[in-house]
Amino acid sequence: MKTIIEPFRIKVVEPLKMTTRAEREAALHRAGLNVFLVPAEDVLIDLLTDSGTGAMSSEQWAGIMRGDESYAGARSYYRFEDRLREVTGFEHVIPTHQGRASERILFELIGGPDKTIPNNNHFDTTRANIEHSGARAVDLVIDEGRDPKSRHPFKGNIDLDKLEALFKEVGAEHIPCVMVTVTNNSGGGQPVSLENLHAVRKFCDRHGTPFFLDACRFAENAYFIKQREPGQGHRSVAAIVREMFDLADGATISAKKDGLVNIGGVLLLRDEALYGAAQNLLILTEGFPTYGGLAGRDLEAMAQGFEEVLHEDYLHYRIRSTAYLGEKLLAQGIQIVEPPGGHAIYIDAAEFCPHIPKAQFPGQALVCALYLHGGIRGVEIGSVMFGEHAKMELVRLAIPRRVYTQSQIDYVIEAIGEVHARRDRIRGLRITAEPPVLRHFTARFAEV
Ligand code: F0G
Repeated sequence: MKTIIEPFRIKVVEPLKMTTRAEREAALHRAGLNVFLVPAEDVLIDLLTDSGTGAMSSEQWAGIMRGDESYAGARSYYRFEDRLREVTGFEHVIPTHQGRASERILFELIGGPDKTIPNNNHFDTTRANIEHSGARAVDLVIDEGRDPKSRHPFKGNIDLDKLEALFKEVGAEHIPCVMVTVTNNSGGGQPVSLENLHAVRKFCDRHGTPFFLDACRFAENAYFIKQREPGQGHRSVAAIVREMFDLADGATISAKKDGLVNIGGVLLLRDEALYGAAQNLLILTEGFPTYGGLAGRDLEAMAQGFEEVLHEDYLHYRIRSTAYLGEKLLAQGIQIVEPPGGHAIYIDAAEFCPHIPKAQFPGQALVCALYLHGGIRGVEIGSVMFGEHAKMELVRLAIPRRVYTQSQIDYVIEAIGEVHARRDRIRGLRITAEPPVLRHFTARFAEV
């Protein structure tokens, strides 16, 4: 059947505020044409991020009530630990308040000056935490991963030749780990194949180097493997997930993605000494090892979320509905990063607005146009975010998990199509105020 049906029904609803174009114009001008500064209430369909924005299930909400708020040894912690051990096979499970807290602890321990850490593509916070430790972060995704039109099935794969060249250049003793991000968020939400993960494992064994996963979207990645990798179609997603984790020496996870919760993170380790050191740092800044900066109820919600995310009817709906948005945009002649990723669709804003030069931020201009026309909030990933280092001018539409219905996505498709039909009216922007770092969050703009 072609219709994608949501494999859940709705028990609680949150009304959306309908706004007029005049109200959105006023809100956007108050925000200096930066949608990060627009109150969420004034947004109709919020596709800013898929992180922490998902809907929890009735079982997760039941867990919230069961949460054990004991400081040490809470029942909820043991449920969480058991679930993570079952799903990932890791013995040492550290809870943190979100992904970047796991990253900060890990890189404080293994990073530092003179160190280089490769990845397919580091996510911003991963790169920032590595650089904060004094180390260098290097992106080594395969060339197809940088080409928006390439239909390679695993565009998130890391390039083993580039990895070999990096080891020759800096020496294995300066590389404390090889990381791979699944799925590759900064590269368009593209998956990494099992074959590639096995190859990285072999490579790391040859050099005696630990292998870490940034596993935020591990279930979406495993589902792509089941769909696309030869010989994997008959296996359960749970078995593929287990194989992915079995290949790694450790993992950082933001549970705000495939943990299906609004807050939470995990650090998984095998090495005994590293585990001890990580626990000490955790106590210093996050909390006691059995709660790690979270409430007991949050641990309950995670224990349940890490189980639900492996349901294959959920994953089918999830990956299909993201692809649906991408395919409908392509059918309207709107170029996106192909093929559609797992959690988001990335519109090629340079193609959408060929009349706006890079220096006038076509991505940010399109983000404003989508908000003004349809109350839709996306995010610019281009020259505003990365300055002169930007390789593409993209607008990301990230899909919160289990939140929007198919008719709401149809509305998004229709609204973007209408903006596209009148795209010559979109005007370029200039920056009127910007902070010294991470300017995309707070910069203000004016039309040129
Ligand atoms: N790694 C990846 C691949 C991510 O996508 C994110 C967050 C993090 C680490 C950090 O996790 O936010 O829990 O500290 N990505 C969000 C996004 C913010 O919108 O893509 P966090």
